[in-house]
Amino acid sequence: MKKTHNCGELGLQNIGEEVILVGWVNRRRDHGKLIFIDLRDRAGISQIVFSPEADDIAHAKAHELRSEFVLEVKGQVCARPHGTINPDLTTGEIEILVHELTIINSSKTPPFSISDELNVAEDVRLKYRYLDLRRPQMQKNIFLRHKVYQITRRFLDENGYIEVETPMLIKSTPEGARDFLVPSRLSPGEFYALPQSPQLFKQILMVAGFEKYFQIVKCFRDEDLRADRQPEFTQVDIEASFVEIDDICKLIEGLLSSVFKEGLGIEVKTPFPIIDFDEAMARYGSDAPDTRFGMELTDITDLVKDEACQVFNRAIAQAGQVKGICVPDMASISRRDIDELTNFVNTYGAKGLAYFKGKESPIAKFLSDEARDKILERMNAKENDLCLFIADTPKIVAMSLCQLRLHLAKKLNIIPEDTFNFIWVMNAPLFEYDDEEKRFTAMHHPFTSPRETDYPLLDIDPLKVKANAYDVVLNGVEIGGGSIRIHHRNIQEKVFSLLNLSKEEAEMKFSFLLEALEYGAPPHGGVALGLDRLLRFMVGGESIRDVIAFPKTQSGICQMTGAPYKVEDKQLRELKIRVV
Ligand code: AMO
Ligand code: AMP
Repeated sequence: MKKTHNCGELGLQNIGEEVILVGWVNRRRDHGKLIFIDLRDRAGISQIVFSPEADDIAHAKAHELRSEFVLEVKGQVCARPHGTINPDLTTGEIEILVHELTIINSSKTPPFSISDELNVAEDVRLKYRYLDLRRPQMQKNIFLRHKVYQITRRFLDENGYIEVETPMLIKSTPEGARDFLVPSRLSPGEFYALPQSPQLFKQILMVAGFEKYFQIVKCFRDEDLRADRQPEFTQVDIEASFVEIDDICKLIEGLLSSVFKEGLGIEVKTPFPIIDFDEAMARYGSDAPDTRFGMELTDITDLVKDEACQVFNRAIAQAGQVKGICVPDMASISRRDIDELTNFVNTYGAKGLAYFKGKESPIAKFLSDEARDKILERMNAKENDLCLFIADTPKIVAMSLCQLRLHLAKKLNIIPEDTFNFIWVMNAPLFEYDDEEKRFTAMHHPFTSPRETDYPLLDIDPLKVKANAYDVVLNGVEIGGGSIRIHHRNIQEKVFSLLNLSKEEAEMKFSFLLEALEYGAPPHGGVALGLDRLLRFMVGGESIRDVIAFPKTQSGICQMTGAPYKVEDKQLRELKIRVV
């Protein structure tokens, strides 16, 4: 089937030419004497016209055509008659008068129309993904993804980075999620893990002297899924030797600038602003703040601690704090809406939501006029503003106010669209305390190095130790993260032991790493970008599923193939596995 042109590329320059097109019936309008078809291929749409004058046989056959039939047509490019030009279509000034039609294949009536006006649940889209992917927006997304792969490869290659594949059947690399396991037939009872990331392999490549590595790579994490989380997702994974934080940041800024410039024609401002982790938590209640709008968190603990307000005092007495946000022009909010907001923050653990509508508040009677005025002054509250306060542990205050801020910003429509706010979040703690497991866990991963000046704190107050780590955040979403790694065995062992990993356990799980560090390991560091998340922003999608050809649902299911699925008893027997 030799097409001479793509459907989407014909124009006035082709008038009079004989062309052969192949494609799908996008839309059919049968006026009896004249039949119009929008013929679609991956490049776009051309209108083709059948008339008895042009060709009797083709015209007769064209009555049979239905949506998504596959056609080959021969015809002549003509200018559309005056008044029928379609300015919305790149090919809108021409049409093809057909004199030969071949129906290559028919199609059942699709369960939804192939158009960007979505009229169908996502489950159905995922089940018939091959139809969903025919939609122009999805084609655009997948083409952009391809483009971003190429830009990334070229940029990193030009900067001396070499692409190395690392194995998919590995010994577990902890990144904080559960592993997907693969049973071994040859070693019954033993399992490979699918990589949560190539972290240890890329570090080993540094020990091996490659100096600059990258890979566009699938990672697998068995965790609770959300709009921006898939069980398998793609990282642009990078590692380099003899680098400092600044080198990695410059590289990523350069890479992201190229991706936005060449992929979308958008200039990204560099360097990205840097926010300290503590400051991000204080001002936004989040380690991945959305800085496209204000409504920042304000601490008023000191202003209320000596007042007679029980709801505040109770929390402060338990090492808590009182913080609030000021919502512009919302003082006229109804009681019901306040209740709704209270329910909203309840889901994040907050016990209540105190408020000031202008100067009015049910808790005003528990505060002196002086305290009230100081609070409103610090909140920068104007007469028409609504101030909302939460008193609780720092963790709950941060989480609930962060979510409330985002919720209200969306509701009030104050988040500027088409803005890309990149920031670096730096100086996060090395450890956090896991209340459930009653132990320290690594904030990034166990291979992140502590800030050298904080070494003494490892023994005294580990929670105060800062990490040589950095996250890159775009519009409130962590799109990448990395660190300078530990490259000395003794420090790595020290960190393992603080993470409650016994010497034997560390030896069992990571002997290859510990040993490698003893053979002249260079200082090294790196980063991984979440490619799906980045692309989601680039296409303005709702979820990362919009930029993945074959994603899984929120419950980890592939709607098209039905995976995960039972396997045959024989397979299980070979693996010496019994399902209980
Ligand atoms: P981290 O765990 O932060 O770092 O992962 C890097 C980036 O990957 C993206 N990401 C995800 N995207 C989609 N679905 C998921 N389930 C998912 N999980 C993570 C995020 C995240 O910022 N080895 C380290 C990197 C390093 O230290 O060099 C790592 O994997 O955008
Ligand atoms: P209560 O004394 O529990 O009836 O609460 C009085 C007001 O304070 C109500 O508006 C509650 O929503 C609010 N409130 C209660 N607990 C908190 C809290 N921890 N932080 C902020 N406001 C609270």
